[in-house]
Amino acid sequence: MNALEYNGTITPGLFWRPMNSIAVVPGSFDPVTLGHLDVIERAAGLFDEVHVVVVHNPGKTALLPIAQRVSLIERSIADAEIDGNIVVASWSVGLLVDYCTDVGAHVLVKGIRSQVDVAYETPMAIVNRNLAAVETVFMLPDPSHAHVSSSLVRQVSSLGGDVRPYVPSAVYEYLKQT
Ligand code: PNS
Repeated sequence: MNALEYNGTITPGLFWRPMNSIAVVPGSFDPVTLGHLDVIERAAGLFDEVHVVVVHNPGKTALLPIAQRVSLIERSIADAEIDGNIVVASWSVGLLVDYCTDVGAHVLVKGIRSQVDVAYETPMAIVNRNLAAVETVFMLPDPSHAHVSSSLVRQVSSLGGDVRPYVPSAVYEYLKQT
């Protein structure tokens, strides 16, 4: 049986997985949310190697330093005991597709919560494909996370609200003490 042949057992991420596949899950992750973790976990079930890459988005005013965002993602993945070959990194020296080329990744994975996300992500997906033949795979988050965003978390947290339902506990503890 080759890797693409259905074997009668539906095991998500296993029965069609291409060989030696490397995917990048990019984002600001300012901070990482439960919605992000959901996408990371599911990507880790679909690809042999997943790079979660924190990228500075010049269009956004950042709350957390990039090194802190990386650290919180690492701790959150460990705490949630997410299986898979996952690398957490940051990238600030050029195009995201340059990172993909450096590590041999041909796929970007992005979570799509709504039509707003589709409109935001579509031009980036087309440009990234034109730049370096890097494809974007859109993943629907679990509906329980469909309303969660980092910007909402930042706002609720800055105004003293409880963000525990939206973020991993490492992020909650970090935001509580800042
Ligand atoms: O979580 P975000 O802020 O929506 O993530 C957007 C991000 C950082 C993935 C996007 O801005 C990006 O890819 N930036 C890297 C710069 C780049 O490669 N730009 C050209 C192609 S879109």
